[in-house]
Amino acid sequence: MMQTKIGIIGGSGVYDIAGLESREWVSVETPWGMPSDDLLTGTYNGTPMVFLPRHGRGHVQTPSTVNYRANIAALKMMGVTDVFSVSACGSFREEMAPGDFVIVDQFIDRTFAREKTFFGPGLVAHVSVAHPTCARLMDAAVAAAESAGVTVHKGGTYLAMEGPQFSSAAESHMYREWGCAVIGMTNMPEAKLAREAELCYASIAMVTDYDSWHPDHGAVDVSDVIATLKGNSTKAVDTVAALPAQLPADRTPCPCGCDTALEYAIMTAPDK
Ligand code: ADE
Repeated sequence: MMQTKIGIIGGSGVYDIAGLESREWVSVETPWGMPSDDLLTGTYNGTPMVFLPRHGRGHVQTPSTVNYRANIAALKMMGVTDVFSVSACGSFREEMAPGDFVIVDQFIDRTFAREKTFFGPGLVAHVSVAHPTCARLMDAAVAAAESAGVTVHKGGTYLAMEGPQFSSAAESHMYREWGCAVIGMTNMPEAKLAREAELCYASIAMVTDYDSWHPDHGAVDVSDVIATLKGNSTKAVDTVAALPAQLPADRTPCPCGCDTALEYAIMTAPDK
């Protein structure tokens, strides 16, 4: 039996997790280079946790310059089994209001200027991302957010855009017509790489704004995002602190098969 080790990738406004015991920041070098920052290790009620600020402390990496491969590889090298992404997002739905959390289940990947795979010439693999988020982790995230008193919506498609500019009004309306629930700049290729690394992955998206479509709200700007994040700053940490209680300490195999994703994915012959 394997021990559960929870990895948290913190987005804008989440650069540390208070309350973690036996805290230690450790530097990890990976075959894909350095991750965004050192990783913070520790425990919550006995459950080992590893935290990585996606943009680095001080927010120095843009959504396009984050080394997503090194971030996922570093968590894997630290022995993490289950990854929760925590990030800010815009909302395409009236009922998904600023301050609410959306536990994303699907993605549309419109990013184009990022390294998206650990594989390449010599070792060719095609993993399935038909279901890019882990159902077990989604349930845990919903329960943890509820226990932290957060209004949480289970399921919703996340539109991953390249940025760094926000969307035009025309794009915002189009994404709504596509059925998207939220928009952000960072969950892709992170979720795809987590699948290639056979890590379970779920995304906790905190709504900070209504993007550019809402007739009663002006176009989004960074001050809206920061104001909402500051006003709701305890929600993310309280949710993260509630996660260990929602997962078994002894980790059973993933019911959705995230941890065996490579089994039928490798095309290259073994002797090549
Ligand atoms: N992050 C927070 N709000 C966003 C938005 N409206 N678009 C893209 N990324 C975001």
